[in-house]
Amino acid sequence: MVRLAAAVALVALAMLACADGQRKAPTVMVAILVRNKEPYLPFVLSRLSELHYPKSRMALWLRSDHNQDRSLQVLEAWLAEYGSSYRSVDAVLNATTPPLRSDETSAIHLSPSRYRAVITLKEEALAAARRLWADFVWFLDADVILHDSTVLQRLIDMEKPLVAPMLRSHGAYSNFWAGMDQDFYYKRTERYPVIYKHKEQGCFAVPMIHTCVLADLRLVGSDGLTFVYSKMAVPRGPENDDVITFALSARQAGLEMYICNQEDFGQVPIPLEPPEVVSKERLNIVNMKLETLLEWPPLPVVPALRRFLPPPVEKTTLGFDHVYMIGLARRQDRRQRMLASFDELGIDAEVVEAVDGRQLNDSFLSERGIEMLPDYRDPIRDRQLTFGEIGCFLSHHGVWQDVLAQGHERVIVFEDDVRFQPYFHYQLEQLMDEVEALRLDWDLIYLGRKILHSNEQWVEGARRLVRPDYTYWTLAYALTRRGAAKLVREQPLRKMVAVDEYLPIMFDRHPNAVWMDHFRERSLLAFSASPLLVHPIKYTGEPGYVSDTEDAVTIGACVAGSVDQHTCS
Ligand SMILES: *[C@@H]1O[C@H](CO)[C@@H](O)[C@H](O)[C@H]1NC(C)=O
Ligand SMILES: *[C@@H]1O[C@H](CO)[C@@H](O)[C@H](O)[C@H]1NC(C)=O
Repeated sequence: MVRLAAAVALVALAMLACADGQRKAPTVMVAILVRNKEPYLPFVLSRLSELHYPKSRMALWLRSDHNQDRSLQVLEAWLAEYGSSYRSVDAVLNATTPPLRSDETSAIHLSPSRYRAVITLKEEALAAARRLWADFVWFLDADVILHDSTVLQRLIDMEKPLVAPMLRSHGAYSNFWAGMDQDFYYKRTERYPVIYKHKEQGCFAVPMIHTCVLADLRLVGSDGLTFVYSKMAVPRGPENDDVITFALSARQAGLEMYICNQEDFGQVPIPLEPPEVVSKERLNIVNMKLETLLEWPPLPVVPALRRFLPPPVEKTTLGFDHVYMIGLARRQDRRQRMLASFDELGIDAEVVEAVDGRQLNDSFLSERGIEMLPDYRDPIRDRQLTFGEIGCFLSHHGVWQDVLAQGHERVIVFEDDVRFQPYFHYQLEQLMDEVEALRLDWDLIYLGRKILHSNEQWVEGARRLVRPDYTYWTLAYALTRRGAAKLVREQPLRKMVAVDEYLPIMFDRHPNAVWMDHFRERSLLAFSASPLLVHPIKYTGEPGYVSDTEDAVTIGACVAGSVDQHTCS
């Protein structure tokens, strides 16, 4: 007993010794303005309360008004649960303001009075942080999804006067500008994509950061920061723009703004613009949740906020008879991600166990009369088909046979490494509306693929459909019963090529005439969505990633033998 007590005392002493000389975490006031952000708030606030940063060193400053959704209720529920763990809470949640200001034409209209109100509130936040003697003020928009829970500590560790973690969005929108024109507005630069696409990594001085900005108030110069035009040392730029005034005041105070892109720190939606409507945020958060799933676990929601989540989406087969998802049993990570994506999108898909190349062998193939095309060599790697590629072919072939056996008229087939484009449903609906309107006679429509030739023609009168030329990948496609019949009838198992070579052969656009000669009826009526509706997750690559087709075409690792990069690896 005595020895135990002595040991405890020693440990306590050791801990004291460790703590001796250690600094407390800097104090941070988080300023958040909220208006109509109900779809985001459960996620944004959950991420905030799960940040790895001592809440006792954080103060909250929240303002919310003119809501037409349950933003206030979400904030109240969150504060009731977590508010007391923060150093202090200064929240004005105004339930009596009307949904629109008198000069607003909609809830997303940036009217003069709205700009004035935002400027006033942000300036109040800045004053509040100074009054609190906070070391830092963190302006965080209410729709920022932070992936990295150490992001606040990391930003502090950057030791910059003003710093933002680079946030991504589709359409290459982000929370920084790399250039500012003579009138102090956004200027397009060559620098922007270098930073946005992580071609260089680090913290970069830029003329503008916004949306998620940490300012170091311990710096003498920070006293010059302001959102109010008339308070600038030398008033310049537009009078009513909070972010531009703030950036110019920083410049005048000799404080540089930095954007940091060492990681995929988080996401932000593209701000809505009229005639868009506020309800579109419900789709934006779905896009962001899908993007999160590519690299991170599903976004957590703290129990106190779960009642604010929309009910699960009712699942459909997207207007088709059936949806298949081919996946390898041993790639549960991919399968879980796809199933979570289907839950998000409301897609009712049958999981088809892929034929695993690792379990194939020559005796299996010869028993079933499976043979390779005599002249077949992988065009890039100059080798025979791998068992992985054979497994992939067999998996798709199995689906085609099932389409016929079940008598489905139209189906969609997904592989398990699909990245959905934003607004996938809407895009698919528009695509199929066009198919309908044009009375297109079709067998197969690619939803995702690798385009190999750039000479493709639009379908006459179409805005979303092209005639594919030589193409790789079988990521996702729509297929009719007639298409499945054509693909099976050619008996491809007796003269197998990679499945993504087989499709272009069957629509008669394969560059290798010798191979094509082995297949008699190359009459598959194939089309492709343009733009594509899905891409492979392989593009993710480095921290974050960008989905433009230009990059897509140049990624060498996915060329040919591509199939074993995907489902069938
Ligand atoms: C809410 O906003 C209204 C209108 O702007 C204002 O008159 C009222 O004082 C505000 N209430 C609170 C609690 O701030
Ligand atoms: C070949 O593969 C089949 C199917 O996976 C398996 O049942 C069989 O045992 C394998 N044979 C050999 C010789 O490995």
